[in-house]
Amino acid sequence: MSLISLTNVVKKYSVGKQEVIALDHISFEIKPAKMTVVLGPSGSGKSTALNMLGGMDTPTSGTIWADDQEISTFNDGQLTLYRRDHVGFVFQHYNLIPNLTAAENVGIGSQYSRDAMSPAEALASVGLAGRERSFPSELSGGQMQRVAIARAIAKRPRLLLCDEPTGALDSGTGRTVIELLRSIADTTDTAVVVVTHNASIAAAGDATVTLHDGQLQSHVQYQVPVPVGEIDW
Ligand SMILES: Nc1ncnc2c1ncn2[C@@H]1O[C@H](COP(=O)(O)OP(=O)(O)OP(=O)(O)O)[C@@H](O)[C@H]1O
Ligand SMILES: [Mg+2]
Repeated sequence: MSLISLTNVVKKYSVGKQEVIALDHISFEIKPAKMTVVLGPSGSGKSTALNMLGGMDTPTSGTIWADDQEISTFNDGQLTLYRRDHVGFVFQHYNLIPNLTAAENVGIGSQYSRDAMSPAEALASVGLAGRERSFPSELSGGQMQRVAIARAIAKRPRLLLCDEPTGALDSGTGRTVIELLRSIADTTDTAVVVVTHNASIAAAGDATVTLHDGQLQSHVQYQVPVPVGEIDW
C-alpha cells in the first residue's frame, strides 16, 4: 500500500527565456509509517520533489495521488486544505518565530486541526517536556529543531516532510534528530521523508530515492534500516 504515488512527474520552471527542468519524468512511491530518504547533489530536484509531495506546488505534467486524492489536479484552495490537514514540514533553519515560546510555536502548527496533540504533549514526544516556556534563543540548535518537529507532528500528519533537517547541526546532534524522525516512522502512521546531502543517513531509512539532474537515478525500497547509532556519519 502506498500513501503517495508520483507517476511521470515533470516540473519545469521558466527563468527569463530559459527553461529549467527540475523534475524529469519521476515516478516513485511513499509508504505510510516508513522513512524514505531522498538523496542527490545540489540542484538535482530534491526540494522540488518535496514541494510536489507536500502540495506546495503542482507538477507541469504527470500525476500525484495522495491516498484517494489526485493532488496534481488541485487548485490553490484545495492545496491549502491538503497541506493543513495532512502535511507537516521541517526545514534546515527551523523557522521558529523568535518572540514566541516553544509551546506557542508548536501551537501554530496545529491551531486549525481537530485531533491535534497539545503543545505540551507534542514537546514531550520530542524529549522537550518542561521547555514549553523557553524562547528559541534559549535553546540549542538541536532543541530548536525538536521544537520544529513537534510543531510539524502535533496535528498528526499523514506525511512529515523534512528538507535537510540536520544541515545546520553538528554530527552528534544530527544523529539524535534522525533518531527522532526514525522513531516517528516506527511508532506512528506518519510517513517520514528526509531530504539530505549526507548519503550515510540513507542507511537509517526504509527506502532511498536518489535524484540526479531531475531524473530518478535509483529507488531502493524495503531496505532493512540500520540503527542510527551504528551509522558512520
Ligand atoms: N522557483 C524556481 N524557479 C526557477 N528554478 C527553480 C525554482 N526552484 C528550483 N529551481 C531549479 O530547479 C532545479 C532543482 O532545484 P531544487 O531546489 O529542487 O534542487 P535541490 O536538489 O533541492 O538542491 P539543494 O541540494 O541545493 O537544495 C535547480 O536547477 C533549480 O535552480
Ligand atoms: Mg533543496
